[in-house]
Amino acid sequence: MTGMNSLNKNIPTIIIVLGATGDLMKKKIVPALFNLYKDRQLPKLFHFIGFSRRPFSPTDFKNYIKSILDKNPDNANAAKQKLISSFLMMFGYQSGQLENAIDYNNLSAVLGRIDGEWKACSNKLFYLAVPPAMYEPILENLSSSGLTTPCSPEEGWTRILVEKPFGKNLKTSEDLDRFLSSLFKEEQIYRIDHYLGKDMLQNILQFRFSNNLFEDSWNNKCIEKVEIRLLEKIGVEQRGNFYDGLGALRDVGQNHLLQMLALITMERPESFTAKVIRTKRANILKMLNRYPLREIKKYSFRGQYDGFKSIKGVSPNSTTETYFKIRAYLKGQRWSGVPFILESGKRMGLSKKEIVVIFKHPTPCLCPPNIHYKNRIVFRLEPEEKIIMSLFAKKPGLENKIEERIIQFLYKGANLSVQYVESYEKLLFDAILGDQTLFASTQEIAAMWKFTDPIVEAWNKNVVPLVRYAPDRVEISEKAKYIQQDDNLGVTQNKNVGIIGLGKMGSAIALQLVQKGWNVFGYNRTESVTKDLEQSGLKGKYSIESLIKSLPTPRIVWFMLPAGPVIDDMLHSLIPLLSKKDLIIDGGNSFYRDSIKRNDLLKSHHIRFMDIGVSGGPEGAKNGACLMVGGKKKDFQEIESLIKAVAAPSAYGYFGKVGAGHFAKMVHNGIEYGMMEAIAEGAAVLKQSLYNFNLPEVFRVYNNRSVIESRLVEWTQEAFIDDQNLEKISSVIQSSGEGQWTIQIAHEEGVSVPVIEQSFLVRRQSQDIVGDSPNGFRNKVVSAQRGKFGQHKVKKQ
Ligand code: BG6
Repeated sequence: MTGMNSLNKNIPTIIIVLGATGDLMKKKIVPALFNLYKDRQLPKLFHFIGFSRRPFSPTDFKNYIKSILDKNPDNANAAKQKLISSFLMMFGYQSGQLENAIDYNNLSAVLGRIDGEWKACSNKLFYLAVPPAMYEPILENLSSSGLTTPCSPEEGWTRILVEKPFGKNLKTSEDLDRFLSSLFKEEQIYRIDHYLGKDMLQNILQFRFSNNLFEDSWNNKCIEKVEIRLLEKIGVEQRGNFYDGLGALRDVGQNHLLQMLALITMERPESFTAKVIRTKRANILKMLNRYPLREIKKYSFRGQYDGFKSIKGVSPNSTTETYFKIRAYLKGQRWSGVPFILESGKRMGLSKKEIVVIFKHPTPCLCPPNIHYKNRIVFRLEPEEKIIMSLFAKKPGLENKIEERIIQFLYKGANLSVQYVESYEKLLFDAILGDQTLFASTQEIAAMWKFTDPIVEAWNKNVVPLVRYAPDRVEISEKAKYIQQDDNLGVTQNKNVGIIGLGKMGSAIALQLVQKGWNVFGYNRTESVTKDLEQSGLKGKYSIESLIKSLPTPRIVWFMLPAGPVIDDMLHSLIPLLSKKDLIIDGGNSFYRDSIKRNDLLKSHHIRFMDIGVSGGPEGAKNGACLMVGGKKKDFQEIESLIKAVAAPSAYGYFGKVGAGHFAKMVHNGIEYGMMEAIAEGAAVLKQSLYNFNLPEVFRVYNNRSVIESRLVEWTQEAFIDDQNLEKISSVIQSSGEGQWTIQIAHEEGVSVPVIEQSFLVRRQSQDIVGDSPNGFRNKVVSAQRGKFGQHKVKKQ
């Protein structure tokens, strides 16, 4: 995936590790370099210099490196031992005080000698394998000694490799960045996040962008939730000093988990070059929603395992977390509303590292009650590296039963990879090549800190309690499960709603809510409708008294009734049955002034009221409508989860106090009148023209990237596909009033609305027009559009 083909790996290169006798060398650098050597992936002229305090001779150092390699039983055979001997030839050592400028002269002399032998100005890679506190003096010394100055712009580059964590928060990372950039150019700085070097994670981009199967559903329309977890069997062990005060979120959350999130969600890159990929990763990380302090408790959980405080280097009063679960969201159209569950913990009793993408079930779901067909794709790193896809298919046999089937492919079996080694192999290889794709950029690091800083701050203030957990068990994850609930807003504890009016819109809303796990109690004047819906999980009620009795308080009752007196009558019957704080939602097309009056009436009985304009027709109500909400902000916040469940992703908004929802819907419908009329007029002109246009074809083309591409154009096309001449469609256009209200209010406000007004008049006059005149056809087009979106009666008598 990297642009390595264009890069030459055979340039003489020296890696200088500062802090060469520490843990990083043992666990990561030496085994990874040996693998590269084994696979002949190192430059032909290659040298390795250890620079550290320990008074090693070069031979001592070689022995030290050998002892690291000998720990691996796979290296015991004669062939490997031979390979190790030749590998060690490339190793040299210079002892020195890392903070001491003078000692860098010796290092410089060693490097000069190697270049002299090679008769070349080699590339130099300086690897900072020291605690972050030592970065500044070391970098200062490297720079002032001239060691990091390239021989010339064309020859002998120098690069700096730094480990995570990059800073401890946004401020310190910016300070470090400022310092680094005063000494080096961005293309010299390689910030390591070893997760980016993992094969399976690199594979995510290939998987997403090379298979045409997924990308169209890779968004909030089709994906319900993404879980990203890094659960470890191991604990903090000997790293007490480093870990305490840092904690799990900054150790693996701010970097590894968020990079995993970036790879799953980033936009399609135009190419696989470092610049493009890093920018795309940064762009999506910048979309992470940041939570205000007061909300952090709702979105995060933290824990510490028993025994952590007795680890060497950990303070006995430590409140450092060793486990966390966070629910994150991204802003923007593509991902808004999709929860990303980030979870990590030490001493969890199992090792599970994976990303699970959970798809929404199809709507309507032809599935048994309380079961949904939700596909999953799992990118698993541990215990074994594999991709798993779950699909649903018919069970073989006579019965028509559906079962879940798994398709998977194994990358690498369990326990075949040694911690860090493959990732470091890849990262060192890329750093030698000069490919920065798999290294984090300043922008990425800043975006990640911006997300985690407020959480760390809230935790430091103990806004979220630290929960203790028994080590080597996974129970804490269960305990933290509430963080995963998308709907833990207000009434979600009370996932009950009553719907009055189960016509096309009401029944579609009811069914959608049932499928999303709500208890929906429904009442309709015609009982057979209620009866039918019971088969799909609706709790049918056959009187309003029994409906109200079934609902827990405070009740939510959603009206889907025709505008006008029906609503007033229903309210008068309900008021004596309701209790204080109950909430009535009018989701119909009421005039906003009626809504204001109704609110006043209900208020005198201490009953709450909200007006919600619902657009999208029965199709929208079934699969996700567009909702315009008016009422008290507090009430909106309380029932947001209900609104969200009815709306298509991102398709709702709070518009203001009572009446605002219906006002916005009224204007929306006025606009709709004008747009429908314009389309119909155009269609009539096409029909009368000398070209004998194929109308379904013209409207098909109109609806492909043209400026007038829209639902209305699509519906017009559909109507013409049914019948170009609209023979069976009535030229009398029905009108239910909202267009007229828009005109009335516009007049009162002194706004002239000639287009909406004219389209309304056309509807009125349609009564008098003879069917086969050009205007008759024009009117039929409007009727046909209405028929498509509202399933209104449009057929000729
Ligand atoms: C490191 C963390 O960055 O990642 C460790 O500092 C953690 O605490 C490790 O154990 C996990 O990496 P891997 O490759 O084993 O999943």
